[in-house]
Amino acid sequence: MAFTSVSLEQRSFGQTLRRDAWWVQPLLVFLALSTFVVYATWAAFQGNHYEWGPYISPFYSPLLFGDSAHSWFGARPTWLPVWISPALLILWVPAGFRLTCYYYRGAYYKAFWADPPSCTVGEPRTTYRGEHSFPLIMQNIHRYFLYVATLFLAILLYDVWEALWFLDTTTGDASFGIGVGTLILGLNVFFLSGYTFGCHSLRHLFGGGVDELSKYSSCFFAYRCVSRLNRRHMLWGWFSLSSVMFSDVYVRICSMGIWSDWRIL
Ligand code: FES
Repeated sequence: MAFTSVSLEQRSFGQTLRRDAWWVQPLLVFLALSTFVVYATWAAFQGNHYEWGPYISPFYSPLLFGDSAHSWFGARPTWLPVWISPALLILWVPAGFRLTCYYYRGAYYKAFWADPPSCTVGEPRTTYRGEHSFPLIMQNIHRYFLYVATLFLAILLYDVWEALWFLDTTTGDASFGIGVGTLILGLNVFFLSGYTFGCHSLRHLFGGGVDELSKYSSCFFAYRCVSRLNRRHMLWGWFSLSSVMFSDVYVRICSMGIWSDWRIL
């Protein structure tokens, strides 16, 4: 067999033969993720206006401590530093899940540290260490975040159920109703479910351990469902990220008494 030796030239940063607008996508990802991170950090530290009536912001659910009816373990303990809001106690789960997501990894490696800026575009460094050494090897923790994120999803679904029951402050009775907030929280769970159940790790969980998947009908069915969602994982990721932020904004608006006429019971 004949061999031909080809020497590959190291491209300098940003150098490419591509003629399309390859920089648009990483730029949009940079702007969208930066906006979300800035807003989420502010909302998490803010510690107020995260609930109204039966609604609770997904940034603050599960609410471990607090004075409201949503609180799981009662009043906030006195030993907890004041600057730690209830959101800071739980946000490490959804944040870790997104941060280690296979899709987002590819997106923010390109958008935030140009590694590479886009496919076949020269990158700023000459060595490639990949994800097999510290710190990026920690990304393999993703499957464990998936397990906990699934529990959080069940809690958010319960929040939607709670958002169907509105308390009459004069009689003290709860009555069934569907508000705009109920629909927004419900839609948020829908998008989060599409994102979570299309996870690459979940796909591997159902189909990665067997040679002939079709012999195991229930696994095969689950694998096909996950694969179907997985094909649009990027879209589910962006829709769910937006819906989480929008849900927090809506609950905040209700709680602050702005646009109170929008509450349709
Ligand atoms: Fe994206 Fe698991 S790969 S959520």
